[in-house]
Amino acid sequence: MGRHEHRRLRAGVAVVATAVVVAGAAAPATATPGGRPGVDPRIAELVALMTVPEKFGMLGGVPGSGGAAGSVPGVPRLGVPGLDMADGPSGVRADRPATALPAPVALGATFDPASASAYGGVLGQEADALDMEVLLAPMMNLVRTPYAGRNFETLSEDPLLSAQLAAPQVSAVQDNGVIATAKHYAANNQEAGRRGIDVRVTEKALRETELAAFEAVVDAGISAVMCAYNKVDGVQACDSAELLTGVLREEWGFDGLVMTDWVATHGPGSLEAGLDVEMPRATAAFTDLARDVDGNGVVDTGDLTPAVAAALDRAVTGVLTAMDEVGLLDEADVTPERATEANAEVAHRIAVDGAVLLANDGVLPLADDDLADVALIGPTAQVPLIGGGGSARVTPDDGAVDSTVDVLGGRGAGVSWATGEELDGVVVPGDRLDTGASIDGTYTAPVTQTVTVTAPTAGAYTFSVQTTGPGARLDVEGAPGTGAEASTVSRFGAAGGSLIATADGRTNDSHTVELAAGEQVTLTLSCDTPVADGSAACSPSVEQPLQLRLAWTTPELRAERLAEAARAAADARVAVVFAYNEGTEGEDRSSLSLPGYQDELVAAVAQANPDTVVVLNTGDPVLMPWLDDVRAVLQTWYSGQEGAEATVDLLTGAANPGGKLPVTFPAAEDATPVGDPANYPGLSTDDDPDPEVQTYTEGSDVGYRWYEATGTEPLFAFGHGLSYTSFEYSRLRTRTSGDGVQVSVSVRNTGAVTGSEVPQVYLGAGTAAGVPALQLAGFSRVILAPGEEQRVTVEVDERQLSIWDADRDRWVRAVGTRPVLVGSASDDVRLSGSVRVR
Ligand code: BGC
Repeated sequence: MGRHEHRRLRAGVAVVATAVVVAGAAAPATATPGGRPGVDPRIAELVALMTVPEKFGMLGGVPGSGGAAGSVPGVPRLGVPGLDMADGPSGVRADRPATALPAPVALGATFDPASASAYGGVLGQEADALDMEVLLAPMMNLVRTPYAGRNFETLSEDPLLSAQLAAPQVSAVQDNGVIATAKHYAANNQEAGRRGIDVRVTEKALRETELAAFEAVVDAGISAVMCAYNKVDGVQACDSAELLTGVLREEWGFDGLVMTDWVATHGPGSLEAGLDVEMPRATAAFTDLARDVDGNGVVDTGDLTPAVAAALDRAVTGVLTAMDEVGLLDEADVTPERATEANAEVAHRIAVDGAVLLANDGVLPLADDDLADVALIGPTAQVPLIGGGGSARVTPDDGAVDSTVDVLGGRGAGVSWATGEELDGVVVPGDRLDTGASIDGTYTAPVTQTVTVTAPTAGAYTFSVQTTGPGARLDVEGAPGTGAEASTVSRFGAAGGSLIATADGRTNDSHTVELAAGEQVTLTLSCDTPVADGSAACSPSVEQPLQLRLAWTTPELRAERLAEAARAAADARVAVVFAYNEGTEGEDRSSLSLPGYQDELVAAVAQANPDTVVVLNTGDPVLMPWLDDVRAVLQTWYSGQEGAEATVDLLTGAANPGGKLPVTFPAAEDATPVGDPANYPGLSTDDDPDPEVQTYTEGSDVGYRWYEATGTEPLFAFGHGLSYTSFEYSRLRTRTSGDGVQVSVSVRNTGAVTGSEVPQVYLGAGTAAGVPALQLAGFSRVILAPGEEQRVTVEVDERQLSIWDADRDRWVRAVGTRPVLVGSASDDVRLSGSVRVR
């Protein structure tokens, strides 16, 4: 099958000539919402009653309860409660189970604010039920590089889409009496150099891209903001007076609490700069301020400079205001039960609505004949990949997660399964180790074991450390230049182990090396120290014994699995390959390819059966060298605990895919916006491999804007997503509406099944200066029955018609005539007109 073919969107395409003139109001476009009421007298009174140590006490985190990532202490004497804080963006991460929602990127793909509200409703309801006062979500940093480890955890590459989904989500969380947290403020767009990379970005680019969603949630009344690990233009985000005070508070009117990301305090001046709370604990930056300087036996205002005293009151006021905004200073409510069933239904619906049909020549939905005899292939067909790794990882209820193999079989299909990609391997036999004995036992004390393995034949060997707990390390060391250079594996230590457990439920962290026959490699397995960087400790004891084994996948075993998969595919009417990647906090990808041997697997299956479909369980774009050889590709992201049900709904046609890509899928490794190391991952100034400084050379051209500006053809464009039905667009009208534009279009379902479509409104640059070549200006998701037509109206507000003028430090209307392009994807424009902005 050929790559999907659509007309590529270009500024200036004129199919239908509807022109409209919009002129700004006389006053300049400043868009400074602010406007929140002043400090509540009740809060001012509380602050006045607090001692200086009580105030400082509220500004440093302490361990929380119930599995909280941290907690802010209250002041019991005055009836001020503490705040337990839980991650996170795709479900509440506590010490009890919660609903595992589809990853936020799947929510992004719904292009549906109502889904965002439902998603936030689940997060808020469950945070409340699990006794968490603060939810450490949503993450709203833009997907700027396809390599970033946390791409699955955020919404999209587009400022407007992220803003329009984050705002209703936040309102819904807070409607449950839970404080939502906008994170990570700001320009926290990658894991490489995660603890302090210096992001050089122009103010224009920052305002027009990354800050948009933060501003939108402040407008929506969010009560907490988490500042980021990185620096922005030389200043740590958590020490930045410009970001924390100038933009956030003075300009946008934010009045809640600003907390650090975990251990992200850097300077003694951060309190004065605008930081309120250090998490997960106070550091010298704040504790040094709370000293009895005048030696009068108490720490009081006399020990503080006027500036620090004022900042302290501001910080405490911010924390109390956040509490008050969601009702936490009122009489305590009864803690509700988790609405488990209703929340699972939301997870299911969003998994369906966020799935994106990337390609389909008509093989999907599968016909009854196909379903009578279908081969499912790939580890994640059996063990669903419900979410990514790191602090966004959620533990669902026991039994809540089904496998696609079981669900499809349960609906009467004739299903076979083959893993195709061997992940578990087998225990390395003792006669391959210099010690003569396999490593496979139970340990009751810290353990470090070093062994030398000899490769019996030439090829790729995958070594795995498999344990009953997280945090074990595997160091692999071969002779320099042989492809087995020193390397450490403990990738998911922070997150509780690898994302795909072994068949017997163990964590499974692996490393692959190419070895010649007879070549040796030294392996060190250790579980003996607390792992750095906030990761879980791995220290077995009598009370907490640990089972640990060393496994490998040899070239022969791998070939056997591939052959089994090809045989299963050849024997079946249709083959569906599930391919995955494992996105995680703490680590970027080094390649856009599917990990392991999955490209070979898809190719082998497609060769064995021409009717092959691929389901992607990835958090971000992957390359698809096999695209022309398969009949359909369905992107289901990390689809949450209901992912198997949703996937089966979509494969069988019980549901119709309607998601759209919230991120561009690049066609090649060298055809992305981040081709220059100075731009990504950044440069290092010393021997440390971690990058220290990077420059956002793309300016405001993040994501698809860059592809458009540079004429780079993506594999799948932003906004792309097919359906089992078809839609016709007609009657585009644009008219002024206040300081913005109203765009109306009729959309008709011209196919035979009900489906949803997302008409997207883009602006081209036209004659306006300083604007992107292409810019999403609005969208709306509609559901249409066969033959049904609906008039869809999208409001393009003044901000979308404006650019940031750094000289004048404000938004100004981008004067000129700009194409208005309306269609089903950024590369599938159906109608166009223009708008004159004055
Ligand atoms: C992450 C945050 C998270 C925090 C608490 C940090 O490492 O960057 O997103 O909320 O940990 O778990």
